[in-house]
Amino acid sequence: MNNQITSSYTPILEVKALICQFGGLIAVNNVSFTVLQGEIFGLIGPNGAGKTTLFNTITGLIQPSSGKIFYQGEEISQLRPHEIAAKGIARTFQNIRLFGELSALENVIIACHLDIKSNFFQGVLGLPLARSQENKAKKKAWDLLELVGLSERAFEKAKNFPYGEQRRLEIARALALSPKMLLLDEPAAGMNPYEKHKLSEFIRELRARFDLTIIIIEHHVPLVMGLCDRIAVLNFGQLIALGEPAIVKNEPAVIEAYLGDE
Ligand SMILES: Nc1ncnc2c1ncn2[C@@H]1O[C@H](COP(=O)(O)OP(=O)(O)O)[C@@H](O)[C@H]1O
Ligand SMILES: [Mg+2]
Repeated sequence: MNNQITSSYTPILEVKALICQFGGLIAVNNVSFTVLQGEIFGLIGPNGAGKTTLFNTITGLIQPSSGKIFYQGEEISQLRPHEIAAKGIARTFQNIRLFGELSALENVIIACHLDIKSNFFQGVLGLPLARSQENKAKKKAWDLLELVGLSERAFEKAKNFPYGEQRRLEIARALALSPKMLLLDEPAAGMNPYEKHKLSEFIRELRARFDLTIIIIEHHVPLVMGLCDRIAVLNFGQLIALGEPAIVKNEPAVIEAYLGDE
């Protein structure tokens, strides 16, 4: 069994009675769940089920209509995206958001600077501290590119990468923030079956190496079932199942809503 939860049963993220409404549409409807420290937690459900909206709410891009989100015991539901990122929650996007005209390396360096928090005036004045931070950021970015297997293409523009590699680059950029929690929104989209298989292994490695908690939205059911410690299933904004993959996949509501039409 490779789905061992690596850490203790300490909650890291608690979502409580969350509702996200866009006009008349309830995209997330009274959803509650807890993610444990060190878990790889899967979030699945048909298109339009509210998965990305849930990520947007956790990361502060959307304010919930009601309900609360706690991270390490502290309420984060009213915080701004950069405040939430600074607390250690990083993400990738379903619709990739890289700087296409910048190189792979530059894309990651920018995020490293956000983490190292170099002082603007030190940067402008070219003070030694800023220069050492610049070198630190470069070294860190380079290491991360190596980790995601893109260091050989470090100087190529991000827009010229195939989708699978852009997704890996987004993961490198998210890791540059030194997160404790990583949210991956359909990271396998655009990858071929071999890349998907490698991605699964890679995500496990990331958890071990950086002591991460990971939430992954993914359509590819075998990948999710093999990778995740627990899975939450959303359908029309509602949480219809939650638990270990082997149990969730046999629940009639899940088969009907999602797995049945695969
Ligand atoms: N910013 C928004 N404004 C209005 N409707 C939205 C917005 N974001 C998402 N939605 C709607 O909310 C529902 C859930 O979308 P989403 O969270 O993207 O689903 P999923 O990621 O599960 O496919 C969809 O019907 C979508 O059209
Ligand atoms: Mg989505």
